[in-house]
Amino acid sequence: MNMQTMMKPVSAVTDDLARIEVLAGVSIVIPTYREAENIPLILNRIDQLRQLHNLTIEVLFMDDNSGDGSVEAVEAAGYDWARIIVRTQDRGLSQSVIDGFRNARYPVLVCMDCDLSHPVDVIPQMVLALATGQQFVLGSRYVPGGSTDDDWGIFRYLNSRVATWLARPLTRVKDPMSGFFALRRDDFLKADELNPVGYKVALELIVKCGFDNVAEVPIHFSDRALGESKLTLREQLKYIKHLRRLYIHKFSNAMYLLQFLVVGASGVVVNLATLSLLLMAGLPAAACLAGGIATSVVTNFLLNRRFTFSYARDRNIWKQFVGFVTVSSLGIAVNYGVALSVAGTALAQGRFGLHMSALAGIACGMLFNYLGNRYVIFRKTHMR
Ligand code: GDD
Ligand code: MN
Repeated sequence: MNMQTMMKPVSAVTDDLARIEVLAGVSIVIPTYREAENIPLILNRIDQLRQLHNLTIEVLFMDDNSGDGSVEAVEAAGYDWARIIVRTQDRGLSQSVIDGFRNARYPVLVCMDCDLSHPVDVIPQMVLALATGQQFVLGSRYVPGGSTDDDWGIFRYLNSRVATWLARPLTRVKDPMSGFFALRRDDFLKADELNPVGYKVALELIVKCGFDNVAEVPIHFSDRALGESKLTLREQLKYIKHLRRLYIHKFSNAMYLLQFLVVGASGVVVNLATLSLLLMAGLPAAACLAGGIATSVVTNFLLNRRFTFSYARDRNIWKQFVGFVTVSSLGIAVNYGVALSVAGTALAQGRFGLHMSALAGIACGMLFNYLGNRYVIFRKTHMR
């Protein structure tokens, strides 16, 4: 988004909008839960914008069965371009937005909150950005010119920044947490397997649609007008789940390895903890070592089955366990074999030569274990 467009007077923006025939209409999707009192306010603002720029629009409130008079509020406003869809299944902010986009009829889709946190007058700039080749436009708090209300507590601010930072490997945009954005309906319809959980529907779309051209229009994020926020801790925890899905989508094979390594690291802890416990119980060293290894093999198996290779969870656990142990035992043999042979070469000279050999053995043993599990024991079965 260049500054020129931003600075244009209203009439010029209106002219620009009129010229863009492909973007002949805008569907504004607003997820709602208990926003009855805000509905007339936002409709009013949108109506002003509509008249100002002569826009063809529709507004879709996607309501998770609030039962607080939201339906009546939309009806009472009496705009034929506004409707409310009451959802009774699969509740959630992201799901509502996706649902709304599927029901939208115009070529440009906009999503925004109902509580007047998002400034409607930025919508024309978003539409223009789409018309000039951007694939996705975010209303952004963290680009120059953007801001949030002062009474945002330090907790909410830090929370937002940490969440943004966790999404860095997925996208470089400054405000991927924003709930105010626009995209083309065609691009949305092309996106496959959208399954967001929680609040971050923009992040879901940027990652799953693989958008490269994402523009950020600065916005001032105001405190909600009336009512209260629904962003509970429970919703926030869903973000971790959502992130995991998106990382798997984007970095599939690397993510399997990463999860496998994290489980492996947990296995080291389990092993040593068990070992200490058995030692305290007075068992002989050989038994303690064996106990540590056995316990970590079991926890590694269970964690890999639950997380790393969760797609294969519905298959027989005992068969998988036998396979896992078989493959692991080969890994230990590989480990030992590699360590022994490295120890016999010139590499193993010097003070820590034997340690280096052992490390080489561990690395090869682990790699062997990973490949064996990923491609043999926990391989993906394909649909016939
Ligand atoms: N349909 C539906 N279902 N709508 C919901 C639900 C739900 O379960 N939960 C919340 N909403 C609606 C609200 O009614 C509101 O219109 C909008 O989604 C945003 O909810 P708020 O409760 O106002 O969220 P927030 O202000 O804490 O979070 C906003 O800012 C975040 C960035 O700080 C949202 O825009 C988030 O998407 C954004 O990440
Ligand atoms: Mn809000």
